Amino acid sequence: MDQIRVHGGRPLHGRLPISGAKNAALPLMAAGLLSAEPVRLANVPRLADIASMANLLRQHGVRIDRADGPDGGGDTLTLSAEEIVSTVAPYDLVRKMRASVLVLGPLLARFGEATVSLPGGCAIGNRPVDLHLKGLADLGAEVEIENGYIKASTPGGRLQGGRVAFPFVSVGATENLMMAAALAAGETELVNAAREPEIVDLARLLTAMGATIEGAGTDTVRIQGRETLSGAVHRVIPDRIETGTYAIAVGIAGGEVVLEGADGGLIASAVDTLADAGLRIEEVEGGLLVARGPDPVIGVDMMTEPYPGFPTDLQAQYMALMTVSRGASMITETIFENRFMHVPELGRMGANINVHHASAMVRGVPQLTGAPVMATDLRASVSLVLAGLAATGTTMVNRVYHLDRGYDRLVEKLSACGAAIERVPSERAAAEE
Ligand code: UD1
Repeated sequence: MDQIRVHGGRPLHGRLPISGAKNAALPLMAAGLLSAEPVRLANVPRLADIASMANLLRQHGVRIDRADGPDGGGDTLTLSAEEIVSTVAPYDLVRKMRASVLVLGPLLARFGEATVSLPGGCAIGNRPVDLHLKGLADLGAEVEIENGYIKASTPGGRLQGGRVAFPFVSVGATENLMMAAALAAGETELVNAAREPEIVDLARLLTAMGATIEGAGTDTVRIQGRETLSGAVHRVIPDRIETGTYAIAVGIAGGEVVLEGADGGLIASAVDTLADAGLRIEEVEGGLLVARGPDPVIGVDMMTEPYPGFPTDLQAQYMALMTVSRGASMITETIFENRFMHVPELGRMGANINVHHASAMVRGVPQLTGAPVMATDLRASVSLVLAGLAATGTTMVNRVYHLDRGYDRLVEKLSACGAAIERVPSERAAAEE
C-alpha cells in the first residue's frame, strides 16, 4: 500500500487552494436522484468518497458526466437520473462509505420503494441509522430490516409531509429527511434538525430544484414538497474541514499561508479556538490568511459539538496541534464514542496524552519525533501527517487510502507551500522497509 512520508521541521508559506466540501457534495449527489432532469454540480472535489457515491448512483442507473475543473479546481458533475434501473443499494457499495445511506430518502420519495444495505459499524464507533428510519416512518413509509437490508416502501403511493422531531442532532438524518420531504405531499417540519453549512447548501440545491424550504441552518426546517422536481445548477461550498485542517497545519509547522477560497465564517468556532491558541487568522481577498510566529501555540481546552460548535471532524487535527503546545489542554469528544484512535499513534511520536472516557488531557511537549504510524480513519490519518510536519526526522503514514477518501491532492497542496512530503508507491515503500 502507498505510504506518505513527511520530513518535519519546515514552516509553510504560500497559497493553498481549498476544495469543494466532501460532506456537502455527497448529499448533493444523492439529491440528483430526485429529478428526471439533469443536476449539475460544480466545485466537486476529487476524492475516493465522491467516486464511491458516483459508483453507487451509476449502479442505480444515473448517468454521470464529469468535466475537469480549472487547474487545481474541482470537477463539474452532471447527474441525469432519467432512467433508474434499480432501487437497491447493495452491501458491497454501501459498506465502503456510510454516506451511501443518503440514497434512501430520494429513492423512496421518487420511486415509492428502496432497499439499502445497512451501513454497519465503522472505526469511529457504532453509528446506527435509526433516526433516518424513524423519520421516514413519520412521513408514512413502511420500513423493515431484513437480511442486513433496510426495505422501505410507501404503501399510500407517496410520502406524506409530517412532523419529525429528532431526539438528538444528526446531520445525515436531517439530509435524508429533507430530500424525502422535497417530494412528499404537503409540508414537513423537521424539529431539532442539524444546522451545519452542508444542510444549508443542500437546501439551496433543493430550492433551485423547486422545493420551498424555510429555516435551513436553524433547528427547525420546513419543507414544502412538490410532485416533481426539476434539474438545477449548483456550486458546492468550500470544505470547512479541509480549511480547518490546513489552518492547523500552519499552527503546527509555523509560517504564513493564504487558504484560497476558504470561508472562515463556516468554521467560526474553530477559528476562535485557534486564535485563542495564538494563530493569526484574517479574512483577506480571495480567502483566509493563517499565520504563526516563531513561538508554539498555547494550550486551549476544546469540546466537540454539533454546529455551530467545534466540529468533531477537526478533533484529531486539533489534538495534533495541542501535542506541541505550551501548556496543557483538555479535549472532549461528545459526538462519537471511540474517536481517539489517533492517540496511541501520536504517542508513538512522543506526544503526552491521557484519555479518560470521552476526554483527553494533552500536555504539550517541546518536540515530536518521526515514526512509522498507522492511519485508522480519515481525520485520524491527517492528524498524523500534521504531527509529522512538526516532528524531527521522518514520519511514515501507512494506509493512505483513508486520506484519499477526504483530502483532494493533499501532498501537492502541502508541498507547494514548502512541506517536505511525498507519496511513496507501495512497491517502493515495501522495498525500502
Ligand atoms: C456527518 C459527517 C461526518 C461528521 C458527522 C458529525 C457526512 C457525509 N459525514 O456524519 O463527517 O463526523 O456528520 O458532524 O456529512 N446517530 C444515531 N442514529 C442515527 C444517526 C446518527 O445514533 O440514525 C448518532 C451517530 O452515531 C453519532 C451522532 O448521532 O454519534 C451524530 O451522527 P450524524 O450527525 O448522523 O453523522 P453523519 O451524518 O453520519
